[in-house]
Order: sequence, then C-alpha cells, then structure tokens
Amino acid sequence: MKGLLLAGGRGTRLRPITHTRAKQLVPVANTPILFYGIAHMAEAGITDVGVIVGETADEVRAAVGDGSRWGVDVTYLPQDEPLGLAHCIRVAAPFLADDDFVMYLGDNLLEHGLAGLVQGAARDEARGLRPAARILLCPVDDPQRFGVAELGPGGDVVRIVEKPSDPPSDLAVTGAYLFTEAVHDAVAAIVPSERGELEVADALQWLIDRGRGVAHEVLSGWWLDTGKKDSLLEANRRVLATLTPRCEGTVDAASRLDGCVVVGPGAEVVGSRVQGPVILGPGARVVDSRVGPSVAVGPGVLIEASTVEDSVLLDRVHLRGVPRLVESLIGPDSEVLRTGRTPRATRLLLGDDASVELP
Ligand code: G1P
Repeated sequence: MKGLLLAGGRGTRLRPITHTRAKQLVPVANTPILFYGIAHMAEAGITDVGVIVGETADEVRAAVGDGSRWGVDVTYLPQDEPLGLAHCIRVAAPFLADDDFVMYLGDNLLEHGLAGLVQGAARDEARGLRPAARILLCPVDDPQRFGVAELGPGGDVVRIVEKPSDPPSDLAVTGAYLFTEAVHDAVAAIVPSERGELEVADALQWLIDRGRGVAHEVLSGWWLDTGKKDSLLEANRRVLATLTPRCEGTVDAASRLDGCVVVGPGAEVVGSRVQGPVILGPGARVVDSRVGPSVAVGPGVLIEASTVEDSVLLDRVHLRGVPRLVESLIGPDSEVLRTGRTPRATRLLLGDDASVELP
C-alpha cells in the first residue's frame, strides 16, 4: 500500500495567510497541518508516500524533507497546474503503478487518522471483497461545500455529487480515500467539471456506474477541512485539547497556568494568566497578559498587556495592549499594538485579502 498526500493547490480560501505560505503548512497547535497527515500515514503502516506539490513546492520540500522524521520515504510529484484531485492521481500514476493507495488531502484532519480506512480494506479482503475504492463519510451541517454521497436502499453509495446546491444527504465525502488500481481507468475516462477540474467525485461515480464497488464507512470521530479560517480555528481547538501539559520554559511566581498548557523550550510567562489548552512555541513571551483558552502561540511571539482567546498566532507576532483578541489568525511578523499616539486613530498596514473587525 502506498500513500498519496496532496499538498498543491492555491489555498485561496485562507488568504492572506496563504499568499506567503502553502495552506498545508499553516500550523494547527503549532504543527503544520500536513505533518498530521504524514504521521497518520506512518501510523497506518504506509511507508512509501508520494507528495503532490504545486506552486509552493520549495516550501513543502523544505518543511517535509525526505520523510525520515516520520519513518516514511517521501517522493515529490510536481503538478504544473491545480487541475483537480483526480488530476493528481493522473500525475502520480507512474509512482503508484498498480499498488493500492491511500489518498489524503493535505489540509484535512481526521481525529482517528487513517487506520480505520486501512483496517476496513483488510476486513473486505478477508471476506474476499475488493471494492475499487473506499471512502469515509461524515455528517455535516453544510454539505453544499463538499462532495456528497447518496446511499441507496441497501445502504450502498449510489451517487456522489461535488458541491451540490441541493444535496442528496448530509454525508460529506472526507479527504481520505483508499483506491485500487481500478481508479486509473476512471481518472483517464472523466472530463473536467464546470470549475475546470478533474473531480475525484466524478472518478468515484464512474466506478459506481460500472459496478466496480465504492465501499464506505461513516466516521465516528471528527473530521475537518481546514481550508478556511473558522475550520482552521476549530481544528486548533480540537488538537490543543489533546495535548499533554509540559513545561520546557519558565513561569514566574506571579503567573498562573490552568488546564493543559504546553510551554515550549525557552518560552517565558511573566505576570500572566494562561488558561489551557494553550501551546507556547519556542522562545514565545507572555507578559502581563491573559492567554487562552484555545490559543496556539507560535515561536518567538511576544504578547504584552493583552488578552487573547481562541486564536492562532504565527511566528514572531507581536501583540501589545490589545484588550481582547478572539477568533483571530495572525500571520508571521505581524504586529497589533496600542501605541497611545495622537491623534487617536487606527493605523493599518494590511496585505491583500486581510480582514479586520473593529468593535
Ligand atoms: C475536495 C473534494 C470534495 C471533498 C473535500 C473534502 O474539495 O473535491 O469532494 O468533500 O475536498 O475536504 P475542495 O477542498 O477541493 O473544495
């Protein structure tokens, strides 16, 4: 069994953060989302992993390296244009050869990883079954945003539609798929959708229409597509809640830590209250502030005289005198400062696609 991790695409829904970095490298609880996917592959026993890369290839390569950190072997597979998930399978065909493979979208996060998918396939095999594909479905409130599965009277998947305006069910197709070599016929046969992409939904439908079998299972744990700010913050909350407290930095006597707090190497808490779950990255400093719950503080961040909840602060962000910052995602090296300068006014230097909500 091989792995295919998709780390191309433009990440338009997470701009401006993704103007300067790959969406799969945006951190959740201070770890790039993509790293969870690689770890899940390794946990599922997959050691041969192809990584589809696009415009942000250099950055992904620099972050992931050869995969040895996770005990996997990474092969980079460049995709010239983001022409869809099924197109990624076409690009990866020489790497995949006729092996079964797990395809995983690099911006997805599954609570229970990929083991269930691989075990499901093993159960099928033990019963002499070999469906062409296996998918994981998850009930959602907004199925219009996803590929959606319709189950027939026998409980089998009979139809899969991509982002339907009138969804046939609330069962979203999550970004983890297991395929046999039969999928290569499907991706060779389908044509681009209205949005100009080769859709994995169309490849799955092609297999269903030819009776090749698309097995499914409904997830018991949570699943998040982190491609937007709100879902990224939700992923951050959920992953933070699974961390184990640890202190590799310093906390002065005037500070109080409650709940699960990870204080990274060289991080410092001075005269502050930190309400977990919170992670403070290496060298972060929290001074005279209240931080948490659900805050990921990146490496080298400085928080002074501020209150911050439910947010992700990337590397070296500087907050000073901010009365209450919530539900925020702040890119590296940004500053949010109360200056006391007159005339009293809000002064901004914002990049493209930034968003500011004033009280
Ligand atoms: C893609 C798939 C969609 C699937 C989703 C899961 O959508 O096309 O079928 O439900 O991933 O995250 P995209 O993120 O490309 O809009």
